[in-house]
Amino acid sequence: MDASFVKTAPIQQLLDRASGVNESGGDPRLKAIMRDVIESTMEVIVRHDVSESEFWLAMKYLADSSGEIGLIVPGIGLEHFLDLYLDAKDAEAGLTGGTPRTIEGPLYVEGAPLVEGNVNLSTDPDEGTQVLHMTGTVTGPDGEPVENAILHVWHANSKGWYSHFDPTSEQTPFNNRRRIKLGSDGRYAFHSKMPSGYSVPPQGATDQLMQALGRHGNRPAHVHFFIEAPGYRTLTTQINFGDDPFAADDFAFGTREGLLPVPSRQGDSAYIAFDFQLQRAGAAGGEEFSSRHRASAEPAAENA
Ligand code: DHB
Ligand code: FE
Repeated sequence: MDASFVKTAPIQQLLDRASGVNESGGDPRLKAIMRDVIESTMEVIVRHDVSESEFWLAMKYLADSSGEIGLIVPGIGLEHFLDLYLDAKDAEAGLTGGTPRTIEGPLYVEGAPLVEGNVNLSTDPDEGTQVLHMTGTVTGPDGEPVENAILHVWHANSKGWYSHFDPTSEQTPFNNRRRIKLGSDGRYAFHSKMPSGYSVPPQGATDQLMQALGRHGNRPAHVHFFIEAPGYRTLTTQINFGDDPFAADDFAFGTREGLLPVPSRQGDSAYIAFDFQLQRAGAAGGEEFSSRHRASAEPAAENA
């Protein structure tokens, strides 16, 4: 049987009824999207002659893996695809230049302490790892310093775990997470305990899927950023360490050209100089964050 089976009248009528396209209530955009999602699923079933057992195994996987959906989406390349799609739409609209965007990932936490100056991100002890010193500027398209920017920064500890999501519960809520308020010169500086590469939780749903695909679930060591400033487009990006063994083999597809600085390692310290360039917000906006649901925690007593 081929996929034209899905185009037969009974199946098309089923799709119309299932997606409510002929009902007056409901959300027309959702109906149109649902109809296509269901139809695409049917086409996959026919194209691969998916058995009932295989179908229900997949449904059980989806149901059981809901807590890791934010990890699976980057792992199967969909979060990177969204970046490529946004880039292509930007290019069509003539919005080019500046630091490349790359995936947010699932591990941001709202409410990190808002701090100024040369900031220490690491509240908790983390023995045996280097101290990362990162410095640079945030400028606009003409090289002008961006005024009053807020740089959100978050990264893992030396075991590859993020505070708030750490299964060992060993970290305080905002360890290696800060929002840094920059001045009129657009300069930033922070130091922290050097992160290690990240691996998906062993035996979790993402790990299971990666193994079944013959893949791994490792990311190179990296540092995440949001940069927001009045009059500029909010940037979501990250740097990945160019000397990490997974720098060219990131399971989450978050590494991009221009975002792979090699830390200068000297004894107990490692240094990265990295400048960010923002695009200006236009009539179409761009200052806002996506309304993605994000974890949150109560702002802690300032501990920087
Ligand atoms: C994942 C983890 C990350 O730290 C990240 O930045 C992106 C994705 C993940 O587990 O899928
Ligand atoms: Fe990450």
